Amino acid sequence: MGFRVTTLARPLLTAALTPHPLDRYLELLDPMLVRGESRARVVEVDRSIPRRVRLVLVPSGTWKGHVAGQFIQLGVVIDGVRQTRCFSPANAAGSPREPIELIVTAQPGGLVSEHLHAHARVGTVVSLSAASGEFVLPDRLPTSLVLISGGSGITPVLSMLRTALASGHTGPITFLHYARSSRDVSGYDELRALASRHPQLDLRLIYTRTPGGGHFAAAHLDAIDGIDDAQFFVCGPAALMDAVEDHHRAAGWTQPLHREAFLAPTFAADPGDATGGTVTFLRSGTSVDNDGRSLLEQAEASGLTPESGCRMGICFSCNSIKRSGAVRNLRTGAVDTESDTTIQLCINAPVGDVDIDV
Ligand code: FES
Repeated sequence: MGFRVTTLARPLLTAALTPHPLDRYLELLDPMLVRGESRARVVEVDRSIPRRVRLVLVPSGTWKGHVAGQFIQLGVVIDGVRQTRCFSPANAAGSPREPIELIVTAQPGGLVSEHLHAHARVGTVVSLSAASGEFVLPDRLPTSLVLISGGSGITPVLSMLRTALASGHTGPITFLHYARSSRDVSGYDELRALASRHPQLDLRLIYTRTPGGGHFAAAHLDAIDGIDDAQFFVCGPAALMDAVEDHHRAAGWTQPLHREAFLAPTFAADPGDATGGTVTFLRSGTSVDNDGRSLLEQAEASGLTPESGCRMGICFSCNSIKRSGAVRNLRTGAVDTESDTTIQLCINAPVGDVDIDV
C-alpha cells in the first residue's frame, strides 16, 4: 500500500528537514517553547524614571543564567527584522529559573533601546543569547569590594552588589554611583534599604545636577573601608572610568581595577585619512564609496544586514573577515593593513579601498 502525504504530514516532513524542526511548530503554539534558542517573556514594565524602562522577564527553560556583571544580547523584531543589542542583567546571579531584570535607557538614535522604551509591554517575548563578558565578580569574592558606576552603567554593578549580599558576603562594600538626581537612580529605595540593613555597605550617591554634587573627584573615594584588600569594578561613561583609573594610579593603589565600557562611545572617524576609496562587500556583491563611518554603518546604509549586537566592540557578533585593505580601529586609532584577518565591523572604519567578506 502506498504512503499518502496528508495535509498535516507534509509540513511535518518539511519541518523534520530543518535544523530545529519542532521549533517551527512550537513557535506557533508558544514562542517560549522553542528549543533552538533562549527566550524570555516580559512580566513587569516600569517607566517611572524618564527615558528609562525597567523590565522583569521570565526566561525559557533553555536559559543558563548569568554571572554578576556579564551581558546578554537581547533580540527583538522591529519592522520585520530582528535587531540585537547588549544589556547587562541587574538582578543577582542565581538560578537560571529566576526572573531577569533589565534596566534599559533609551539612547538617542538607539534602535532597540528606543523601541523597548516605547513598546515593551507585559507579554512581549524577546530572544536572549547566552550571557558572556569578562567584567565579572570572581568566584571567590575579594574581602572588600569597591563598585563604581555612572548613569545606566549601574546595572552590572547592581547585580554584583545584590549577588555579594545574597551570598552572605560580610566584607566592606563601597557603592559609589553618579546620577543626575536621586530620581534618576535605578533601585534608589532598594539601595537605601540595603544600606540600612547591611552595615558593611557604604552607599555613596553623587548627584551631578544638584548643588554640592558634581562629577568624579578623588575625595569621593576617601576613607574606603578595607582598601588594602579591595577590588575595584567600574562601569559607566568613558570619562568617569578614565578619571577613576587615573586616580587609582596616582594614589599608588595596586589592587585590581576592572572596567566595562557598557555605554556606546562616540566613534569619530578621522576625516583626514578615513574617507576615500571603495568598500566592497564581497559576498553580497555590493560596493560603496567610503564615507568614513564604521563598516557596520556603511554596510547597513547599503541595505545589508550583517549580524551585530552591542555596536561598541564588546560582543564580537559583528566579526567578519577583511580580505584586503586598511581599516582604522575607532576606539584605539590603530590601523590594520593585514589581509584575511578578522575584524569587528562596528568599531572599524575603512582607510581607502577595503574588501570585506559580508
Ligand atoms: S556589534 Fe558587538 S562587537 Fe560589533
